[in-house]
Amino acid sequence: MYRTHTCGQLRLADAGTNVTLAGWVQTVRKFGSITFVDLRDRYGITQLLFNETLNQQLDEQPLGREFVLQAIGTVHERSNKNANMPTGDIEILVSEFKILNKSAVPPFTIQDDTDGGDDLRMKYRYLDLRRNPVKRNLELRYAVNRAARNYLHDNGFMDIETPFLIKSTPEGARDFVVPSRMNAGQFYALPQSPQTFKQLLMVSGYDRYYQVVKCFRDEDLRADRQPEFTQIDCEMCFVEQEDILKMFEGMIKYIFKQVKGIDYTETVERTTWEDAMWTYGNDKPDIRFGMKIGNLKVPSTIFLSRQQELSNSPLGVGGTGFAVFDNAETVLAIAVPGCAEYTRKQTDELTEWVKRPQIGMQGLVFLKYNADGTVKSSVDKFFNPEQLKHIAASCKGQPGDLILILAGREEKTRKATSDLRMELGKRLGLRKENEFKLLWVLDFPLFEYAEEENRWVARHHPFTSPKPEQIGTMINNNPVIENAADYLNHPYSNIKANAYDMVLNGNEIGGGSIRIFQRDLQEKMFAALGMDEEEQQHKFGFLLGAFEYGAPPHGGIAFGFDRLCSILGGSESIRDFIAFPKNNSGRDVMIDAPSVIDQKQFDELQIKLDLK
Ligand code: AMO
Repeated sequence: MYRTHTCGQLRLADAGTNVTLAGWVQTVRKFGSITFVDLRDRYGITQLLFNETLNQQLDEQPLGREFVLQAIGTVHERSNKNANMPTGDIEILVSEFKILNKSAVPPFTIQDDTDGGDDLRMKYRYLDLRRNPVKRNLELRYAVNRAARNYLHDNGFMDIETPFLIKSTPEGARDFVVPSRMNAGQFYALPQSPQTFKQLLMVSGYDRYYQVVKCFRDEDLRADRQPEFTQIDCEMCFVEQEDILKMFEGMIKYIFKQVKGIDYTETVERTTWEDAMWTYGNDKPDIRFGMKIGNLKVPSTIFLSRQQELSNSPLGVGGTGFAVFDNAETVLAIAVPGCAEYTRKQTDELTEWVKRPQIGMQGLVFLKYNADGTVKSSVDKFFNPEQLKHIAASCKGQPGDLILILAGREEKTRKATSDLRMELGKRLGLRKENEFKLLWVLDFPLFEYAEEENRWVARHHPFTSPKPEQIGTMINNNPVIENAADYLNHPYSNIKANAYDMVLNGNEIGGGSIRIFQRDLQEKMFAALGMDEEEQQHKFGFLLGAFEYGAPPHGGIAFGFDRLCSILGGSESIRDFIAFPKNNSGRDVMIDAPSVIDQKQFDELQIKLDLK
């Protein structure tokens, strides 16, 4: 038997017991004729005491860091207790030991605060995984996995696996493709998600499906994106949007309770996509803090429904003589609470911040709403105090606040204002780490216009149903646009989908939709996306065919499992929650993948490499 107990198990009550432990040597401390060794395993650390007799043996067989050691001995009360360790009251008086394996000197210290940089730790990820912070992340991941499965199982969902080698039908991201030896010249694709399969399972009558499943997307990577990532993927039939929202906010609340002990009893807030964009400049707003946007001027084609609100704008419809605002498509303001006292240096720094290439604005206009109620701005020449107070009021500015105003092209200005809001929220400590705020964002636009391709693309995916009352708009309008820049005037720009995202603390943790389930409507959707009949048949003939055999109304959602874990674990990077992640260039530096393959493999695949 290699061990009787783990290294995290023994307590004072076990004193006198004979035990055998096995684990890795964390530290060796020699004090004259005795030696202390900290032995570590997945469960904790236990101190071993080697007395004089064994010390001699240790001289002959010296222990090094990360050696695999088995120690037999008796549990003793420590004279020098360590209250910071669960096993800190005891030590093992070793009578016998065996080195089960030696270890080379590890390239970084296996400790909470390691001296290893990111690249080194990734190269030796199997050593990095021995460290407590990484282990805790994987434990959290497992806890989230278990909680999700329990909840879904208890609600009648069935875990059904779907294939990884499928047909390439890129929409959104690029596919990873896999050559087929048995079908030379043909390729499989790895699924970007099991979307069509879960819909087929609904046609087959498995009315509640789920899977914790790998998805593969060849897209640009960021802290919250990996080329292979995991979804908690779900689908239900005979449901409406409301049923799905209720079921899955239930799941997230259950996970909060099981994993973090949080009772999320409040109702999950809801907003429409349009409201989110109008109020926060972002379709995944962090609602842990306010700082809502004041809309002073926007182009009339966007937010048509908001034109009434804009008619009260202090900037009015005409020019005020300030060219930056007069010439801008959009003028937006936010009120930074309690920052009216900012110094010149501080406001200059904010101006530099919005001028960085990632934000790309020309400048920033400041308005100090002083605590005594007076206003002072960098545009005093063009606006009287009354107008300035109106501007402050547009973003709910209070005396004591600093009002920041951005002007420019609609899309860029809105994004910049949102980024600035998030940055200030962070700087002012308004994005509290252990506060969790969920939000449903509803009624996404059905289409987006891809200017480079000169066609409409599905904002979520092509299986998402339009709002029933807007089906006519989709069917009865020609999708073709003469002048691409004019797309905002096309009726398609205003069609909303039965699609929803779940947002947690400013991160999109899940997204889904109610699906199209009639063949003719699905065909019309494909046509709207510029697919002719032949292409539809080639790419999605199987789904169109299935819709002829009694497809039930259905809908679903998929959660980004890695993202959910990283937010619950308080980290910005999903990599910290994946045992063997890829780096930002999509490489696994430990196994050195991707890599070249043998000529023999090319020959078998009948593929000749001709790199451009
Ligand atoms: P969607 O594409 O919105 O929907 O993906 C669902 C969720 O998966 C997460 N996610 C990612 N996580 C890490 N790395 C990535 N590269 C990555 N891409 C997406 C996000 C996202 O909210 N089939 C549909 C779901 C449905 O309609 O039911 C789908 O895949 O958290």
